Amino acid sequence: MAAESDPVEIVVCLGSSCFARGNMANLALLKKYAESAGSHVSVRLSGSLCQEQCKVGPNIMIDGTLHHGVTPAHLRELLQQLGKSGEAHGTA
Ligand code: FES
Repeated sequence: MAAESDPVEIVVCLGSSCFARGNMANLALLKKYAESAGSHVSVRLSGSLCQEQCKVGPNIMIDGTLHHGVTPAHLRELLQQLGKSGEAHGTA
């Protein structure tokens, strides 16, 4: 189990296929999330080159788990789960 302060590692595939098929929008969403979620979920956002899994893209890795076919709606669900697993105390 990770410590509360461990940042969530999110790696966005920036290869041309994934980027054109959705990761451009996903990256914008992730940037907003990283800026707004900083107080309760620490996020380390980075990009990667093509992972040679273009057919099942757009691909995003979150804490070592590679997610395929990630739409912005799917990504929002994944990020909500991060917020839930990371909340320890209520903040006002
Ligand atoms: S561009 Fe993302 S896996 Fe190839």
